[in-house]
Amino acid sequence: MEYGRKNPFPATIKEAYCLARDNVKETNHYIVDIANSGLEYKPGDSLGLFPHNDPGLVDELLQKLSASGEEGVELKRKGGFTFREALMEHLTIHRANRKFLKPLIAKLPANNRKELERLLSDRTALDQYLNVRDYIDILGEYPAAKFTPQEFADSVGGITPRLYSIASAPGTHPDEVHLTVAVVRYNSFERDRAGLATGFLADRVTVDETHVPIFIQPTRGFVIPEDGSRDIIMVGPGTGIAPFRAFLEQREMDEGKGRNWLIFGEWFEKTTFFYEDEFRAWQESGVLTRLDTAFSRDQDKKIYVQHRLQQAAAEVWKWLDEGAYFYVCGDKDYMAKDVHQALIDIAQEQGGLSEEEAEHYVNRTLMKEEKRYLRDVY
Ligand SMILES: Cc1cc2nc3c(=O)[nH]c(=O)nc-3n(C[C@H](O)[C@H](O)[C@H](O)COP(=O)(O)OP(=O)(O)OC[C@H]3O[C@@H](n4cnc5c(N)ncnc54)[C@H](O)[C@@H]3O)c2cc1C
Ligand SMILES: NC(=O)c1ccc[n+]([C@@H]2O[C@H](COP(=O)([O-])OP(=O)(O)OC[C@H]3O[C@@H](n4cnc5c(N)ncnc54)[C@H](OP(=O)(O)O)[C@@H]3O)[C@@H](O)[C@H]2O)c1
Repeated sequence: MEYGRKNPFPATIKEAYCLARDNVKETNHYIVDIANSGLEYKPGDSLGLFPHNDPGLVDELLQKLSASGEEGVELKRKGGFTFREALMEHLTIHRANRKFLKPLIAKLPANNRKELERLLSDRTALDQYLNVRDYIDILGEYPAAKFTPQEFADSVGGITPRLYSIASAPGTHPDEVHLTVAVVRYNSFERDRAGLATGFLADRVTVDETHVPIFIQPTRGFVIPEDGSRDIIMVGPGTGIAPFRAFLEQREMDEGKGRNWLIFGEWFEKTTFFYEDEFRAWQESGVLTRLDTAFSRDQDKKIYVQHRLQQAAAEVWKWLDEGAYFYVCGDKDYMAKDVHQALIDIAQEQGGLSEEEAEHYVNRTLMKEEKRYLRDVY
């Protein structure tokens, strides 16, 4: 059977290192070994991986539930497991979910239910409550609620795979998939916490040893133009740089005539200029026609990628007018929206379009009709 999301390949990590100097930021480069997997990918695709929970957290939770871990539980669509196996590999336990509250309330005496019932009718307060708690916190707050292993397994969510934009071209790195991963860490109620997948990769994976279940998630349309003579502009701050490293490797191999313009943003030039040596080499060899950087914390006033776009507005417009593709990757909530607005502003100022015409040009012409404004945002 072919490897895929339903049948993930048990890969190992060949190499793992921090991309930031002096540990100012925990953004790591991982090289995943896919030799003998039969897996294939192209620049623009993502890698999906199924993380495992922290065994320390599993032990604490078992203790809270007064369970040994040897109990048998049945998981929907998955089958039978010991409770410990289910907690390690199949159930989300590092963050609490909404679904848990109803069974929790049902287990509480009437005078102990009010606070939780109020939360169920106030979405914002509920999100705030759940965002900083896991089941150990909640069971600690409501010790009267007792769950059997099966009841607990039925009341929490399963583990969903995490996606990572692939940072390598397969021709440049046969049998490997490279990733650029920002590790999520925070502290809540005096316990250090980590994102499930990023914590798993950073803290619980031993190079060449630990099996990481992976699959390839092909992109729907975030691809390099087939015509190698087309120009591309790539905007990739932070981990948004990942697919553009893959694009540049591919464009170098393809030897097309198209120009490549990269706009990268991070905190500090000295310590968080990820892949600087590679980009400098591509500048020297001419693969990278233009490289702009926006280091947000090297001065008092923030400088972001959209400011660099605005400063180069005439040139951006010229490239677009000549048929360039425009790519954005990284933060969806703030960066991608600001870059989108910058593009509309540039179309107005440089193209002499009205606000409405500029919006139409960006939202319809570039994005929908010509499909040369492409985004991979999360
Ligand atoms: C198509 C796609 C491509 C992606 N590519 C990349 C990539 O190349 N590199 C990359 O690093 N990521 C990428 N991501 C994001 C990645 O999939 C994960 O979402 C991310 O790594 C976090 O996963 P996690 O399991 O470690 O965190 P989770 O366990 O899912 O936890 C994340 C949650 O923690 C919460 N959180 C964070 N800080 C705090 C805090 N201080 N207090 C309370 N809660 C907090 C966040 O709100 C978030 O909801 C991509 C996502 C998609 C959809
Ligand atoms: N919560 C977490 O701990 C955590 C950890 C990892 C990743 N993530 C999420 O994963 C995504 C990528 O994170 P990342 O570490 O790769 O990079 P990032 O957080 O997106 O930061 C990369 C660069 O973008 C800048 N930036 C901030 N706001 C911006 C805006 N509105 N427009 C343009 N640039 C902006 C940052 O500057 P400043 O920071 O100086 O403002 C930084 O220089 C984001 O969605 C992020 O929220 C979250």
